[in-house]
Amino acid sequence: MPAPPPKLPPLVARWDEEWGPSPPEEKEAREAQEKTAVAESRDDKRRRVSNGWELPPVHLLNAVGEEAKPPDNEARAQLIVDTLKSFGVDARVVSIQQGPTVTQFGIEPGWEVKTRLVPERDERGRIVYDKDGRPKYRSEVLSRTRVRVNRITALANDLALALAAPSIRIESPVPGKPFIGIEVPNTAPSVVTLRSVIESPAFQKMASRSRLAVALGKGVSGEPVAADLARMPHLLIAGATGSGKSVCINSLITCLLMHNTPEDVRLLLIDPKRVELAAFAPVPHLLFSRVIVELEEVPAVLQAVIQEMEARYRAFAAVGARNIEAYNRNPRAPEKMPYWVVIIDELADLMMSAPYQVERQLCRLAQLARATGIHLIVATQRPSVDVVTGLIKANFPTRIAFAVSSQVDSRTILDMAGAEKLLGRGDMLYLPTDAAKPRRLQGCYVSDAEIERVVAWWADDRFRHLRPEPMDHLLEQVREAGLTGEDDPLFQAAKELAMEHNRISVSMLQRRLGIGRERAVKLMGALEQAGVVAPADDPLASRQVLIRPDEDELLG
Ligand SMILES: Nc1ncnc2c1ncn2[C@@H]1O[C@H](COP(=O)(O)OP(=O)(O)O)[C@@H](O)[C@H]1O
Ligand SMILES: [Mg+2]
Repeated sequence: MPAPPPKLPPLVARWDEEWGPSPPEEKEAREAQEKTAVAESRDDKRRRVSNGWELPPVHLLNAVGEEAKPPDNEARAQLIVDTLKSFGVDARVVSIQQGPTVTQFGIEPGWEVKTRLVPERDERGRIVYDKDGRPKYRSEVLSRTRVRVNRITALANDLALALAAPSIRIESPVPGKPFIGIEVPNTAPSVVTLRSVIESPAFQKMASRSRLAVALGKGVSGEPVAADLARMPHLLIAGATGSGKSVCINSLITCLLMHNTPEDVRLLLIDPKRVELAAFAPVPHLLFSRVIVELEEVPAVLQAVIQEMEARYRAFAAVGARNIEAYNRNPRAPEKMPYWVVIIDELADLMMSAPYQVERQLCRLAQLARATGIHLIVATQRPSVDVVTGLIKANFPTRIAFAVSSQVDSRTILDMAGAEKLLGRGDMLYLPTDAAKPRRLQGCYVSDAEIERVVAWWADDRFRHLRPEPMDHLLEQVREAGLTGEDDPLFQAAKELAMEHNRISVSMLQRRLGIGRERAVKLMGALEQAGVVAPADDPLASRQVLIRPDEDELLG
């Protein structure tokens, strides 16, 4: 028996129900604009904050983007049902959720009915004949079983072909719903502006609880999604080139800049590519006086953050606070501590330059920084195991995967397939710490012009006298301390190098660790102090290594 044609729910209304008013029609446009203007000025008053700083008004950001013309979803739903039917699969479309990039069709499996034809008989059991004298037949149901979900998911490619879609993703089941979700790309995706998410109740609720609320994007049914960086507590972003990582990072930074003064949040931007984060260089939130672009500088910079973290722990202990929230609330705390957000656009470059050290530093930070209000956001275009190592993965529990080229890459990032089906340009799978399954979102977009406006706001002359001192002295400290002893971030690497050999020289340290003569000499001194190598009269002479790897544990 063919299923009756599916009853489709109305396509309108969802926007209204789930994410506030739809973009106003022409006639209402002026009214609405006036209203927003009033709301904005009220908003701006509330935004004025103490100590001379003032947060940027939300109208620096572009308003709600132009909505793309909705594709003909009723027709596409029918096409899905027909295609499934042509493969002998009975199913109904029970919901249609249109998001910015994809539309999700909720499919409920139908029945697989086995029938046979039996001749019709009258009350007395005699076969009934039609007017041509042939026996009449009717079909009799032999068995009725539910269509298996596998039969639908196995048809993904056939559905993509029928819908002329580059790729479709099937989610089975949709979390919390009794149906399978078939996600079909929209012919004209609409842009999710940062402002449209910032102004949503979802974000505002998050922002009222946390300084580090960030707008992420909109889900498959167009619902705005926000997250709390403080809870993440560290975020790993991966995806192929051009998939939307830098736009995502820019929107995260812009979102933080919209809601925080330099007294609330300081940013450490590490950008080995030199162009991605350069636009943010003028803001007073920067921890150091510049965006860090030199690879050689990164270990010292990370070391400075580790030292700050340790200093913060000591400060907490002094007033008996367990974490930054408690400390900042504590009346005995001498001054409020800002959150630190460390952002790295392109981890691969760092991992290539000093893999052992950077991995160790990042993991150490990730493990201990949370309570101290230091958070990491790390992006990479190379989701391979030499960059996204097991250790790094274990320490970055929240992940965002943008489009990748293979299932293997998807597994490296998310521990499951799916990201290879994404469409690029901000289409992402967001996997929060506690979720079993990632959630598909279209990421927020910020244009260069928006970034410029927000940066110009903060770089304005009236804030000049308020600008906090850059923490460059921390770098100096690390450089000095690093060169004198065991504090050198390379000490452990040098020790391990020594233990692999019978003799070790300064030039070998230089060569293998990629450092200068002076630093290598000081490292050698530290090795001698620690009893790893024998003393020598000539500091440049090669030294006898005194311990073997298995003895290391005994020595501690
Ligand atoms: N969220 C988004 N919405 C719309 N377009 C986007 C979005 N993210 C990225 N894009 C488009 O994709 C291009 C490449 O994005 P980008 O972030 O530079 O990629 P990546 O850093 O991963 O190489 C951008 O120039 C933009 O045109
Ligand atoms: Mg990029």
